[in-house]
Amino acid sequence: MTYETILVEQRDAVTLITLNRPQALNALNSDVLADLSAAFAAFDADPGQRCAVLTGSGEKAFAAGADIKEMVEKDAADFFLQDFFSGWQTGVVATRKPWIAAVQGFALGGGCELAMMADFIIAGDTAKFGQPEIKLGVAPGMGGSQRLTRAVGKAKAMEMCLTGRMMDAAEAERAGLVSRIVPAADLLDEALKTAATIAALPPMAAMVNKEMVNIAFETGLSQGILTERRLFQILTATEDRKEGMTAFIEKRQGVWKGR
Ligand code: CAA
Repeated sequence: MTYETILVEQRDAVTLITLNRPQALNALNSDVLADLSAAFAAFDADPGQRCAVLTGSGEKAFAAGADIKEMVEKDAADFFLQDFFSGWQTGVVATRKPWIAAVQGFALGGGCELAMMADFIIAGDTAKFGQPEIKLGVAPGMGGSQRLTRAVGKAKAMEMCLTGRMMDAAEAERAGLVSRIVPAADLLDEALKTAATIAALPPMAAMVNKEMVNIAFETGLSQGILTERRLFQILTATEDRKEGMTAFIEKRQGVWKGR
């Protein structure tokens, strides 16, 4: 499959997806959403692919937001009737296999929101995160006010949304927005290496671990603990569970079937 706005390549069991509109700092328009939705669906459907990395082309930006030039002429009825931005939830967030955002440069507005849709973010030391929508007379629309607040807490999220202030990589790591920082020059290698680590582990267990942590992010504690227990019990039915435990006892590496 060929795409207009992204590049997709497979490196063994890792899918690398690159936002590819560097002239617009990888701004996110409807074509990008359609391409990303198709790429993530293909990744999810391919039993040979086990983890993905999403990054931006060019050193300057992961993505500088939703495409302002696409939005400027729309009126409120257009946004409402098209349920504008809803496709990010169904096309990207719904991905069941794990994926990592590798962020360098600007991740602003929808770009920050897209990075936060990932299972985790690895940041290059040049990364800058922000929700500057207020400066355009709007507010986050792709989940940013919710995910940022859950990730970094009310004080920082509120300050960022109300002022449009950017957070650099060091602050983002301190605040828990990113899992770690690496030199920008090493970002892609590090993200691909981390994805390869995940890809080498039992794939159903990876999907279930992802679902469990997301439930913690999205529901209350007792509901989350019950769901975790049920998902754990479901995983015990897999052949990989039997293999994993047997391999441990026999002091050898497991060989995974993916079921
Ligand atoms: N949409 C459309 N085009 C964008 C864009 C965006 N979000 N961000 C940058 N671009 C374009 C610029 O228009 C420019 O194109 P031209 O060369 O055709 O003029 C090109 O990318 C390069 O950008 P700049 O010349 O502005 O680069 P800079 O280095 O001077 O500034 C920047 C970089 C600070 C990131 C600046 O581009 C900027 O502020 N961008 C907008 C950031 C923003 O407001 N994002 C939120 C968008 S709204 C949103 O995302 C809603 C939501 O919640 C989902």
